[in-house]
Amino acid sequence: MRKNIVAGNWKMNNNLQEGIALATDLQAALQGKTLQCDVIIGTPFIHLATVAGTIDPRLIGVAAQNCADRASGAFTGEVSAAMVASTGAKYVILGHSERRTYYGETNAILKEKVLLALANDLTPIFCIGEVLDERNAGKHFDVVEKQVAEGLFGLSPADFAKIVIAYEPVWAIGTGKTATTEQAQEMHAFIRKIIAEKYGQSLADGVSILYGGSCNAGNAKELFANPDVDGGLIGGASLSVEKFLPIVEAF
Ligand code: 13P
Repeated sequence: MRKNIVAGNWKMNNNLQEGIALATDLQAALQGKTLQCDVIIGTPFIHLATVAGTIDPRLIGVAAQNCADRASGAFTGEVSAAMVASTGAKYVILGHSERRTYYGETNAILKEKVLLALANDLTPIFCIGEVLDERNAGKHFDVVEKQVAEGLFGLSPADFAKIVIAYEPVWAIGTGKTATTEQAQEMHAFIRKIIAEKYGQSLADGVSILYGGSCNAGNAKELFANPDVDGGLIGGASLSVEKFLPIVEAF
């Protein structure tokens, strides 16, 4: 079943104490409210166990922002999907453009990460999106299709049905320049169409496709009103309850 989701991606912000305080404050703000979406926070690795152990999973799901492309072993500094799952986190953000750009994550690497996440009962939030030059050259649909096909189309239908997709045009991330509601809907509908072509319409209709990139309290309602936009992956505005709560309440 397709779900509405608002997920925060804290990126590399907040020390442990600040992270616990933010998660606790968010939980207090959500308590007693009837929400029309699931709420997730993506914290740095070191926060996961404490935050997951502190907050009520019925109110807020916890996500890692990455996991390793290997199951275990001599990979110094890496954190496996099994380790993430052992903290109580239920989600993992994979393929964020910052991971692709700064850490060389390719579709082939991401395919391995997705499989390991699923094998450990984590829900991947799989990020895709084009850079500005690609959009200006009219290649944005091709770029996104390749990311989806190479990263995800090896999955069985049952596994694909567990994936959450986040379309984040790279030119909109942290820039204050949001995709227009038409641009977002057009790309989300395209993503759903290619999923339908591969896995059938009913599976495609069940996949949550989130928008990310300078989403905020001012534009969330309009973005989320699109038929193929099922929520948001929120960076900067997820770092304070004051900014994040109105986005959650935009549904
Ligand atoms: P901003 O909301 O800060 O643009 O970041 C979006 C993002 O990258 C979420 O993963």
